[in-house]
This record gives sequence, C-alpha cells and structure tokens, in this order.
Amino acid sequence: MSNFSKTLLDWYSKNKRELPWRETKDPYSIWLSEIILQQTRIAQGLPYYKKFISHYPSVFELAEADEQEILRLWQGLGYYSRARNMHAAAKTIVRDYKGKFPQSYDEIIKLKGIGDYTASAIASICFGEPTAVVDGNVYRVLARNFGIDLPINSTDGIKYFKKLATEVKDESRIADYNQAIMEFGALQCKPKSPDCPGCPLNTGCIAFEENRVSKLPVKLKK
Ligand code: ADE
Repeated sequence: MSNFSKTLLDWYSKNKRELPWRETKDPYSIWLSEIILQQTRIAQGLPYYKKFISHYPSVFELAEADEQEILRLWQGLGYYSRARNMHAAAKTIVRDYKGKFPQSYDEIIKLKGIGDYTASAIASICFGEPTAVVDGNVYRVLARNFGIDLPINSTDGIKYFKKLATEVKDESRIADYNQAIMEFGALQCKPKSPDCPGCPLNTGCIAFEENRVSKLPVKLKK
C-alpha cells in the first residue's frame, strides 16, 4: 500500500463525520446518498436523505411510489431529473432484478441516472469492487498531491485523473479508501485556504512544495 493511501485511511479513521449512510452497506441507501450529494452539500442534503428513506425505505416502495409525491419530497433540492431517474431505475431494479440491487459496476452503470461516479461509489462501498471514485474532491486532492495541471474538465484530464486514481487506490480497503479521499478533499484539502501546515500529506505534496496549492486543480473556462 502506498504512503498516500495509508495516510488518507489513517486520517479518515480519526476525522470522518458520522453520517447515516456511513452506518450501512445497503446499496439503495448508498445510491440515494450519492445522488443527493452529487449536486447538494451535506448540511442541505441530510434532512432530505432522512425524509426520503423514511417515506421509501427500500427500492420496492420507491418503485411503487407516485411520481408527484416523489417530486414533492425532493422540492428544494433542485435538479429534479435526479428524482425522476431514481424512480425509473427503481422500477427497473424491481422488474429486471426482482428488487435485488445489481452488484457490479458494469450492471449498476446501466441504470438510468447513474454514471461513472455513482456506479463506482456503489460498487466499491457496498460490494467491495476495487473501482476508484473520481469526484470534485478527488480531482483536487490528486491534482495537488501529485502536482498535475491537466484541466479536470478536458478529455485528456478526465482520462489521466481516472488512471491516476486507479493506480493509487487501496484495493484491500476500497470502501473506506474511496470515502477517505472524498472526505479528505471536503474537510482538509479544501478549495480555499486549506490548512497545509497542519496537513498529514504535506511532506509529499508537490503543490505544497512548489507553492501551487491555490493554482490547482486547473479548470478550463468553456
Ligand atoms: N461526498 C459524496 N459522497 C461521499 C462519500 N461517500 N464520502 C465522502 N464524501 C462524499
């Protein structure tokens, strides 16, 4: 295991926030949390997550639900296609998988509204599949630690970071590792004014060494 992943896992065990979706490996719950968190901050998304889970405790209730009622529960979160896609995917899971959530990245990514990020998150967190997640937090941590200035919204950049994320991940503890690097990006390696002197990765961090922390990651204006 690399020093990078070991440090992240060690940091995570001491600093992770206690959140309801970290107490479960239920794919339906993880799916909902990841869909909400894609475009919404934790503080805002948490009450919606709880409300949604208590109304629709499993994929069966969600599949059977009235779409207008789902959208009412989603009100205030925005990006309503997230809710509509979840409803459609829940119906698919009930119809084609008898309600048993598909268990591999390749099956999960076929579901409506689920892309590379969400499929990786569910497959790794719930089923231990060694696939690396790449979200905004992961781009920032990797770009800074490894001093990568390829734009994160270019075709080359997206490919490069996915490959790098795949190389540095800890396969044996993939569920925690993926959540550790995201949580580290959210709390320690923050977009603005991160506490680099207090960072456990600062001895190997290229951006810190070269005074480029505020310049990375690079994002092209389009
Ligand atoms: N942001 C979105 N999903 C997350 C997760 N599972 N762990 C940490 N941060 C996240």
